[in-house]
Amino acid sequence: MATSQNELGRPDSPSPSYDLTGKRVVVVGGKTGIGLGMALAAHAAGASVTVASRRSASIVDHPELAPFDQLVLDISHEDAVRNAFNDIGSLDHLLVAAGPTDGSWGAFMDEDMRGVRSYANSKFLGSWACARYAAPKLASNGSITFLTGGIAARSKIGMTAVTSTFAAVEALARSLALELGPIRVNAIRPGFIDTDLWNFLSPTDAADVRGKVRTNFPARRIGYPADVGHAAVFLMTNPYVTGTILEVSGGETLVDWQF
Ligand SMILES: NC(=O)c1ccc[n+]([C@@H]2O[C@H](COP(=O)([O-])OP(=O)(O)OC[C@H]3O[C@@H](n4cnc5c(N)ncnc54)[C@H](OP(=O)(O)O)[C@@H]3O)[C@@H](O)[C@H]2O)c1
Repeated sequence: MATSQNELGRPDSPSPSYDLTGKRVVVVGGKTGIGLGMALAAHAAGASVTVASRRSASIVDHPELAPFDQLVLDISHEDAVRNAFNDIGSLDHLLVAAGPTDGSWGAFMDEDMRGVRSYANSKFLGSWACARYAAPKLASNGSITFLTGGIAARSKIGMTAVTSTFAAVEALARSLALELGPIRVNAIRPGFIDTDLWNFLSPTDAADVRGKVRTNFPARRIGYPADVGHAAVFLMTNPYVTGTILEVSGGETLVDWQF
């Protein structure tokens, strides 16, 4: 197709579009929480979406998953990831939202290394494996998006394993943007998003944290999976964003706050 040119002799910019009609999107960790928010946003934008994670969720019990194809996949096992992407075949966009939501919390000197090994194996090497085995199947105008968290930029005592792992995933995004181009590779860095991740808090503590977020974060509210889903659609559809860490945090990293 000929590219039209503007009065400066440059190719016309494509119209901004958030349309994913005809695109195939795989969301690893897409059956709950932020990943589900991404999957719903991609589906609303017209994509056909496959969600993958360890659980097998029936549509009767989880009608929110009805729009999606489902896969059972544990990303901490390289062979399983390789086989999954061989089965999936070609795709346009990969979103890796999965991550452990327990463990690895504790003061650095109080812990041995089992926690960080397990955490990094799932979050960092799992993200790596998904990218490694999806890349040969991705469209050349496609993209990969990883998911980290505000703590990557502003650590808290007792969160060293999470901070370090998220920072490594962000470095992976920048590095792969170079190695895999023209496939684009980015990461989203969310702030406090209202998901089941926070269920380990007692109702009183949860209310306390939510209050602190509303008071301290510049956006003055907690975040929702749909906020991150919106950002994921932007990263999938904007053809010139790569190697970027897109913060969707309500301004979390601008302020000093504690749980
Ligand atoms: N919520 C927040 O405020 C927040 C803030 C910053 C960063 N984050 C990060 O965002 C990510 C998603 O968290 P969330 O809040 O959406 O919690 P969530 O609802 O618990 O999501 C975690 C997802 O990861 C999947 N998962 C975990 N281990 C997996 C594995 N080995 N293989 C495949 N899938 C796996 C889980 O599904 P299965 O159990 O079915 O495998 C689940 O769907 C996490 O990495 C979290 O640290 C969250």
